[in-house]
Amino acid sequence: MSFEHDISRCFSETIGEAGLDRSAFEPVLAQTADSLAELREVREKSELPLLELPRARDDLIQPAAVAERLRRSSDQVVLLGTGGSSLGGQTLAALAESPFGPRAGRPNLHFLDNIDPATFEALLDTLDLSRTGFLVVSKSGGTAETLMQFLTLLPEVQRKLGGERASERFAVITEPHANPLRRIAQRHGIEILDHDPGVGGRYSALSLVGLLPAMIAGLDPLAIRQGAAEVLERALTGNPADSQPAIGAALNVALLWQKRLCTTVLMPYIDALAPFGLWFRQLWAESLGKDGTGSTPIRAMGTVDQHSQLQLYLAGPADKFYTLILAAQAGKGARVAPELAEDQALSYLAGRTMGDLLEAEQRATLETLAANGRPVRTLVLPRLDERAMGALMMHFMLETIIAADLLGVNPFDQPAVEEGKRLAREHLSGMAGKK
Ligand code: PA5
Repeated sequence: MSFEHDISRCFSETIGEAGLDRSAFEPVLAQTADSLAELREVREKSELPLLELPRARDDLIQPAAVAERLRRSSDQVVLLGTGGSSLGGQTLAALAESPFGPRAGRPNLHFLDNIDPATFEALLDTLDLSRTGFLVVSKSGGTAETLMQFLTLLPEVQRKLGGERASERFAVITEPHANPLRRIAQRHGIEILDHDPGVGGRYSALSLVGLLPAMIAGLDPLAIRQGAAEVLERALTGNPADSQPAIGAALNVALLWQKRLCTTVLMPYIDALAPFGLWFRQLWAESLGKDGTGSTPIRAMGTVDQHSQLQLYLAGPADKFYTLILAAQAGKGARVAPELAEDQALSYLAGRTMGDLLEAEQRATLETLAANGRPVRTLVLPRLDERAMGALMMHFMLETIIAADLLGVNPFDQPAVEEGKRLAREHLSGMAGKK
């Protein structure tokens, strides 16, 4: 078991009238039986590539070779891409890298998912291009931001290293049909890896899109997939009451319908899960925010947001559902020498470790939220490793898909953002200035 899912503090019998009535939850949970049956069917017929990924193997042969090439030849690897083409990789890489640097013998990974020219230039100034690898990821191969990054960077690298050497510094992930990114890569002899057209951007973390950066960072991709496979197996084989993703989806939707909780807060107490919160935020928002429904995801971090958001969570509008991701922390980390905490006001810290404090604080937040009538569930990880990360990712992808089914929306499209993309292209074409 990669984590324990405890939903007991979401119900009126535990937290009072702000909690969900069992009588409102059970029918919604029962409705997920149809979603589970449908998922089982598409899985049996191999119709949803996302569900095939946990047991796939051959698709990692080329990515493993590219990861090795970039690892050997690079001190830094920069990933160009945005949204689902970046967040899965960011989330996985954070398991291996600390905020202060990569694992020994691994290049430093930088994820450039925005187009602020100042950031771009600042990064370029720090890079030795002869020891930097670039991974360009775009499923469609037509995303303006990613193409802008690539088209401005490629000539810079060519100017410094010469055409052939420049091309060796790059690899591209895109769909296996004609698109602008693919054409440019082909023209410059840049290695291309195929993005499965059946796997949407925000569902692509377990494909080469997430696993290639993970491999560069030094993670075991098969262990990630194993964790995902275990969750998938358990989630689809039982009835809804045994399926943790179905339970999570039903909770979110029943709280939205019965209690008008239109905000869902994901708050890990594990620093390495900071990007996971952003990955989840995109997954939930872009998959469910349709036809006037959905709930707004917020990423918070324990303990730091106790000093920023918690006042609002406890005493602000009662419109939020909370998910705390916790790990056993007691006894971990450095210990405060008792003689340094002689001050009476510090006696609670004497002899305690940093993990003891973290454990106490996560417990305090959980209990205070519940005591204030705020529905809160926990996912408790025995440890955070590749398997647990794969399990978490699969859990939340299934939870999102099942929630979409309950809400009657398609989890795999994002029609509303297309208009903005069209307008941005129009504005750019009409812009005055040098062409
Ligand atoms: O999840 C999605 O589908 C989106 O967020 C995309 O990942 C994002 O728009 C980037 O698209 P692409 O990979 O085509 O460049």
